[in-house]
Amino acid sequence: MTTTIPDLPAPAPHPSDGLAGLEAREISAWFGEHKVLDRVSLNMRAGEVTALIGPSGCGKSTFLRILNRMHELVPGASLAGEVLLAGQDIYAPGRRLTDARHQIGMVFQKPNPFPAMSIYDNVTSGLKLTGTRMRRADRDDLVEECLTKAGLWNEVNDRLRQPGGALSGGQQQRLCIARSLAVRPRVLLMDEPCSALDPTSTRRIEETIAELVREVTIVIVTHNMQQAARVSDRCAFFLAAHRTPGVIVEHGPTKAMFESPRDSRTADYVHGRFG
Ligand SMILES: Nc1ncnc2c1ncn2[C@@H]1O[C@H](COP(=O)(O)OP(=O)(O)OP(=O)(O)O)[C@@H](O)[C@H]1O
Ligand SMILES: [Mg+2]
Repeated sequence: MTTTIPDLPAPAPHPSDGLAGLEAREISAWFGEHKVLDRVSLNMRAGEVTALIGPSGCGKSTFLRILNRMHELVPGASLAGEVLLAGQDIYAPGRRLTDARHQIGMVFQKPNPFPAMSIYDNVTSGLKLTGTRMRRADRDDLVEECLTKAGLWNEVNDRLRQPGGALSGGQQQRLCIARSLAVRPRVLLMDEPCSALDPTSTRRIEETIAELVREVTIVIVTHNMQQAARVSDRCAFFLAAHRTPGVIVEHGPTKAMFESPRDSRTADYVHGRFG
């Protein structure tokens, strides 16, 4: 059963801000014969941070990968349902996988910069893949802009030619965020982006998320309930009961999910009584 906390009215869209929401409709997913998600629907609103929470193995990462067409690259994997970016289904016939990737970026649990490539080239590496050609001066501006947005510029602006692998873990994760931003995505998906980081780096990334969400819709998976409470506007609680596929038990504004959840399983989870 799905319990929904009534949504607050959406903020009026600003006509020039270009923000895009993401809506999952009736998403089911399989690895071979094994069904891991069952008709999951979720509206991830433009200009908000949506946190996906729930115990290990309930399908959060699988759901996230479906949101930017990475799931279909896993051999034997399949899915059903729709994902609408600003109202357009990214899985519609004729829509290219690369279009979805450009518009919907992803940051992973383990920072994965190209270690031998310079900080500068790491940031611009996505441009080659998208076939974007730029003049040197524009590229310099873009690198500064993306590193600034990712909260890293002040720490690296005097060593942009040093390898990305020479940065600390927290800096590498912010470098990966800068790299994602360089192709100007409309949505950024983050799968436990802080789980390998120390508290200071974690706080730094959380500040970055708060800044970014003005321009990019964010969906973040986290096992850290304090983090979900701090960074997200809304939460969705995923759960997979024994031998059954994952579902969303409850979703709604973060404050309500933590302070007055409708479902006792949500209350137990957010208060650390299981998972
Ligand atoms: N590549 C794969 N091949 C087969 N089964 C997979 C694969 N990836 C995930 N699964 C299965 O799909 C289910 C959901 O996994 P998923 O990684 O989405 O969970 P999760 O909620 O992200 O867990 P965690 O919190 O541990 O990251 C699990 O039963 C998992 O074993
Ligand atoms: Mg996961």
